Amino acid sequence: MSDDSLSSHLHEMDLSPQPGFTEQANGTAAMYDEAAADHEGFWARQARERIDWSTDFEQTLDWTEAPFAKWFVGGELNVAYNCVDRHVENGNGDRVAIHFEGEGGDTRTVTYADLQREVAKAANALESLGVEKGDRVAVYMPMIPETVVTMLACARIGAPHSVIFGGFSAEALHTRIADADAKLVVTTDGQFRRGKPAPLKAAVDAAIHHGDDASPVEKVLVVKRTDTEVEWDDERDVWWHDLVDGQPTTHDAQPMDSEHPLFILYTSGTTGKPKGIFHTSGGYLTQAAYTNAVVHDVHPESDVYWCTADVGWVTGHTYIVYGPLANGATQVMYEGTPDTPHQGRWWEIIEKYKVSVLYTAPTAIRTFMKWGADIPATFDLSSIRVLGSVGEPINPEAWLWYRKHIGGDAAPIVDTWWQTETGGIMISPLPGVTTLEPGSAQRPIPGIAAEILDDDGAPFTEAEKVGYLVLTKPWPAMLRGIWGDPERYKETYWSRFGPKYYFAGDGAKYDEKGNIWLLGRVDDVMNVSGHRLSTAEIESALVSHPSVAEAAVVGASDETTGQAVCAFVILRGDATDHGEDTVQELRNHVAKEIGPIAKPRQVMIVPELPKTRSGKIMRRLLKDVAENREVGDVTTLADSSVMSLIKDGMSTGSAD
Ligand code: WTA
Repeated sequence: MSDDSLSSHLHEMDLSPQPGFTEQANGTAAMYDEAAADHEGFWARQARERIDWSTDFEQTLDWTEAPFAKWFVGGELNVAYNCVDRHVENGNGDRVAIHFEGEGGDTRTVTYADLQREVAKAANALESLGVEKGDRVAVYMPMIPETVVTMLACARIGAPHSVIFGGFSAEALHTRIADADAKLVVTTDGQFRRGKPAPLKAAVDAAIHHGDDASPVEKVLVVKRTDTEVEWDDERDVWWHDLVDGQPTTHDAQPMDSEHPLFILYTSGTTGKPKGIFHTSGGYLTQAAYTNAVVHDVHPESDVYWCTADVGWVTGHTYIVYGPLANGATQVMYEGTPDTPHQGRWWEIIEKYKVSVLYTAPTAIRTFMKWGADIPATFDLSSIRVLGSVGEPINPEAWLWYRKHIGGDAAPIVDTWWQTETGGIMISPLPGVTTLEPGSAQRPIPGIAAEILDDDGAPFTEAEKVGYLVLTKPWPAMLRGIWGDPERYKETYWSRFGPKYYFAGDGAKYDEKGNIWLLGRVDDVMNVSGHRLSTAEIESALVSHPSVAEAAVVGASDETTGQAVCAFVILRGDATDHGEDTVQELRNHVAKEIGPIAKPRQVMIVPELPKTRSGKIMRRLLKDVAENREVGDVTTLADSSVMSLIKDGMSTGSAD
């Protein structure tokens, strides 16, 4: 569709809430006023209505040590009890918590009563391994029910988990285990990927035996998933089926302080070292449950909900594990890739389980667009009533395709902006309340306050002017810091515009209707298929290769993945350029150092990099090259001829 026909199409559409939807929606227009009139009172009500506290809290928010927040002070709860046991106690033990669909077609149905027994057994098992309240547990697992069970078992005994995405390399795993000082790792022998088993435990072994460093890891608990052959350390390694299966099926859940750490999740920042974002219990769970109710509009008694994220990312934490389970929802969990064994797998799953709420990412939608609308058209998707999007801006064209071909031209789409740091959804329409605007996340949800600031830190409301998104009031699921590095926390999020504003790192603007449009990162963080990657992290992976003298990485726009990693590399004087072979070697090197998701789409071997007189690499110019544009203003370069040198001398390799 051309831009013109796209905008005239948008113009003709009626995107106001449909009759019938509003009446049943969990979110209401009145919530905006309620929350604006009494921010803390609003959140206190959410906390008391949605969560069971074993001790009620005395104070809603303690912000006296800003930017270190305490929410629901004095309150005590057990997160796992809230996500599992109370639903059984309320008579919903037979309700399905998880419809698990293995990549190979094997299925499991886990009810809340099953989940209660499994979590109790796993909690007993962790305790038998010596895991105590406060100890960190690393989780390196694929998308199987045991992963959810492990996370909940950790929550139950108060041992913060650090889930590391299964696509990360041994190297990345090592850094994260060491930073969190994890004493236990839970993993699987392998994982199914496109019909084939791929090893997983092997990376854990390599991460533990890393160089000369002594590893903090005492035990490795291994679920058998693929029957992949594994190396075994009798002292250290324990099979899940040997240890967990025989444990008692009850476990007494202890109340935890509202501010007890629930998890650490590593994410990319602007330096080479990933940040361990940490979240605590009461506030996080409150916002997770609230947003899953009002934004996804999940009605636990009737909906079948499916969030397609991996549990290794924050979306999986909040919207597979904690939000929907706190609400007692029924959900689908799928292990594999969307095109195994065929490109209609997702739609087949939706038809099979009658999925009514689907939450996914724009990069997936764009991939399905490429595969063609005739594929979903052969399945019955009439159960769908709400669609969600997360991870990056959704372009209007993908929005319209999603609505038409998946949403039956009727389902509201919630474009949800949030971050690992925010813990839960922050900016999004409310289905049944908001008149939708394709491409825009629209406005902060009730209880959240945001503004857009100019370069001088002044808020403005003019339409179409580009500025920086900031959050202006503390919110319950906010990060409580960076693990082990309080200074970096203050510096990264609370200094750019002074201590009053949480700086999100995203550019934004308003349109003439007052909707917020997110415009992507303004720092050196890229967003590839909705995954956060830092330019610095990939640059340091590249320069760790013996042939590389210098590297600069930029995120260039990409039709499918949003952004793609493009690397410019200067080889060392003694290294020889073997053209395509060198390029492939460097791409594979990055995959090995960080993980396949970080593999550059392109590596360009260049004689020089564009630098300012003070030696700062001008990535803006490299981005022009990577995006095949006329190169912009070069006047601040120390040597302005360097760009033509780069373009002339470039040997380019591209993705497979
Ligand atoms: C981007 C993912 C536009 C944004 C939950 C943010 C979005 C970063 C949206 C956080 C959206 C996420 N529209 N941009 N709906 N959702 N982003 O930590 O740049 O993996 O700062 O959390 O993704 O990525 P993270």
